[in-house]
Amino acid sequence: MTFLLAGARVVDPSSGEDAVRDVAILEGRLVDPAQLSDDAPRVDAAGLVVAPGFCDLHTHLREPGGEGAETIASGARAAVRGGFTTVCAMPNTSPPLDDPDLLADLASRAAGAAARVRFIGAVTRGRAGEALTDVAALAGAGAVAFSDDGAAVPDALLEAALGAAMASDRPLFEHAEDPALAAGALMRAGPTALRLGLTGWPPAAELACVERDLAAAEATGARLHLTHLSTGAALDAVRAARRRGVRVTCDVTPHHLALTDAWVSGDRAWSWEEPGDVDGALAYDGRCRVNPPLPARDDALALLAGLADGTIDAIATDHAPHPPERTLVPFDAAAPGLIGLETALSIGLAAVAAGRVPLPVLLAALSVRPAAIIGEQRSLAVGSRADLVAFDPVATWTVMPETLASRSSNTPLLGRTLPGVVRLTIADGRVTWNDGILAPRA
Ligand code: DOR
Repeated sequence: MTFLLAGARVVDPSSGEDAVRDVAILEGRLVDPAQLSDDAPRVDAAGLVVAPGFCDLHTHLREPGGEGAETIASGARAAVRGGFTTVCAMPNTSPPLDDPDLLADLASRAAGAAARVRFIGAVTRGRAGEALTDVAALAGAGAVAFSDDGAAVPDALLEAALGAAMASDRPLFEHAEDPALAAGALMRAGPTALRLGLTGWPPAAELACVERDLAAAEATGARLHLTHLSTGAALDAVRAARRRGVRVTCDVTPHHLALTDAWVSGDRAWSWEEPGDVDGALAYDGRCRVNPPLPARDDALALLAGLADGTIDAIATDHAPHPPERTLVPFDAAAPGLIGLETALSIGLAAVAAGRVPLPVLLAALSVRPAAIIGEQRSLAVGSRADLVAFDPVATWTVMPETLASRSSNTPLLGRTLPGVVRLTIADGRVTWNDGILAPRA
């Protein structure tokens, strides 16, 4: 694996570099272009952006127990198609990932997958919220973080969970949702929910839990990571906690940045656009049901501002594959969640094109910053192992089930034409996605 990417725009958030230059790869390592022999394959990369490989902190791979929707192998293929070289698999599988032997088994199944697959251990046994898992043993088996994603850690166990994660030098990834305040909710509370007659999810359901979590992180000194934040109020709480020295990081999904609760009524305008015409035929689409729910427009704009100003550390997909029989059903029966690995970059680039976030900030939130949260390095400096994505930021593609690498296609973006095509992904020195820009045995 030796070749030259000539004349790419290299954006490396680890060094602040943003420059047009050649990128030379010699046997899986980044080297000075002068080190390549004259007959090394040369790829014209003019117009392409090269960035460190992306790291998704929040992926549902559905193996074991939900292989009809996704497997480790298919999810990893979807990852590299989207530029991700690392995915962190959430533990809400069947059975849940609460046991070190299961983790070791899954890790061996993931060896050789197209992307590095990291595992997040469950906080409570069976994700039942009653007793803690053996956090130290799970960390010893390779868990990079702990989470009961799908639900918040119950009050009675929160400080003990944070303490155990801290003792293993791992963050706790919290799905911040107060179960009482969110009970029965189907979509974000507000005028659209009222008009559609769907039970609303109040933003206080997130804020109450975030404030509880921040207080516990402050009391214990543990590392708290708040995943899929969906309200501006929660971000303000993070900002205030950071000023007090709380060790907190956070991520937001592409769909909470760019989609809004109006999508449930059939609107398809991005959050930064004026609400568009409502297409009644698209109303109550089960593929718009997600937890936390699609935000009010003001909250989506607050999240975009929090991304642009650096408050948000990471964009995480919450890639949540489900089979058609669980999403193409009445809204109140639909399984929450949508796929995201193959559309995340494109949604981010649409926000960049709209002037909502600078490209280097977007790429930092997809690569270097999430990687650091799980202790991985990313760099495009000479001497580093090649782990990168090369994409065309202006070429477009249309989201279609038959061309997605994911086994599932549950997304309201089906049929939409998006900017940004990933041409090449190199994960840990291996070419794992090549959209025809490299000759077969480069
Ligand atoms: O929408 C969601 N889907 N939110 C979650 O927290 C879990 C996820 C899933 O596993 O499908």
